[in-house]
Amino acid sequence: MTNVLGPEEKIGVDGERLWRSLHELATIGAYDDAETGLVGVNRQSLTDADAQGRRLLVSWLQEAGLQVSVDELGSIFGRREGTDPSLAPVMAASHIDSVGTAGAFDGCVGVLGALEVIRSLNEQDVATRRPIVVAAFTEEEGVRFGTDMLGSAVAAGRLGLDYAYGLTDSAGLRLGDELERIGFKGSRPVRLEPPYAYVECHIEQGPVLLREGYAVGVVTGVQAISWQQVTLHGRAAHAGTTPTELRIDASLAAAQVVVHVREMVDSGRYGQLRATVGRITVSPGLPNVVPDRAELTVDLRNPDDTHMAAAERDLAAFLAELPDRQPGLRVETAQMARTAHVPFDESVQREIEAVAADLGMPTRRLMSGAGHDAQEIAAIAPTAMVFVRGQYDGISHNPREYSTPQDCEAGVTALANTVLRLAQRPD
Ligand code: GLV
Ligand code: MN
Ligand code: MN
Repeated sequence: MTNVLGPEEKIGVDGERLWRSLHELATIGAYDDAETGLVGVNRQSLTDADAQGRRLLVSWLQEAGLQVSVDELGSIFGRREGTDPSLAPVMAASHIDSVGTAGAFDGCVGVLGALEVIRSLNEQDVATRRPIVVAAFTEEEGVRFGTDMLGSAVAAGRLGLDYAYGLTDSAGLRLGDELERIGFKGSRPVRLEPPYAYVECHIEQGPVLLREGYAVGVVTGVQAISWQQVTLHGRAAHAGTTPTELRIDASLAAAQVVVHVREMVDSGRYGQLRATVGRITVSPGLPNVVPDRAELTVDLRNPDDTHMAAAERDLAAFLAELPDRQPGLRVETAQMARTAHVPFDESVQREIEAVAADLGMPTRRLMSGAGHDAQEIAAIAPTAMVFVRGQYDGISHNPREYSTPQDCEAGVTALANTVLRLAQRPD
């Protein structure tokens, strides 16, 4: 590598190569989505599809000349050496696991975008002072094992490795066993040495950039997230013969929770609260039996920690009073995941803005509605994110999720030049 760029020089990326890689990865875990009639992606963490996606990623990282390692929780790292290997690296990362109804972009734009940064640096023969590390964190989505941003949270030290290994999926399979089964329990110590800086590129997953006409956004932080599992214990009874006043109907209680969290949102008392009951399972699940058990998840989001805490108290009080409506009902709750609002580093945000301005890209600052690995790494390193505009109202966690090739290229160009500038910094 011979070319050391001056502070004003910029690199371009190959948008077509990025697009091809995104779509090749999206063939892994592809399924026909009955609701949309589209081909979606279901590559949940530590499934066979995830393993196949990981193997493809590792092969690409190796082809790009990176030194690849896998940590004890399966997160994948690829390092490109700097001219001064003793300096802390700049990290660009995200995730390649998906929800069950995903498109091609969520997480993958960040990982394959970071790979594209490396491919472009290699092609243009550019050396950097600091090493650059590309990473893909395990179980960002949290949909299989119940805790989101898991790989990055353990890497940054917020959660423990044993906690992660002990998590189980809905079939009772342990995360630690699944990690071994797919061959991705690595030996790299899970606790991450703080990088010099961390930058993550991600599709916005919301409508703001599209509505306001920006291809790229600078992310100020991530709102608070609270996930709970609520289990409602009722009493199984005959649907035809059991008088209404003798029923302890778990599905009725579940419905009341669903309506209550929506009323909390609509009340306006909790600021910009969002509330979702994304999973309800009722048992025994038979048409002529009053359900004896309902399990549901409640996902609350709020940009304001005080409003979030107040909303959680409201929900707890409502759950505590549910047995008053149906004596004999028993309520159990378990916190699955909980993160406060995380503000990103001002200097990294400014660096992204300066890069975008130099590239002639107008940007806007916005807070992330979704959780991201960046919010965990922010605890140990200066961190910020680049958002890429989505289409169709910014829909995501849906096969309709889409960003144009041009917007992906714009976001990854901003990522590349931000990484490059950070990697040239001496301090
Ligand atoms: C991650 O996709 C989240 O649920 O915010
Ligand atoms: Mn994501
Ligand atoms: Mn997601």
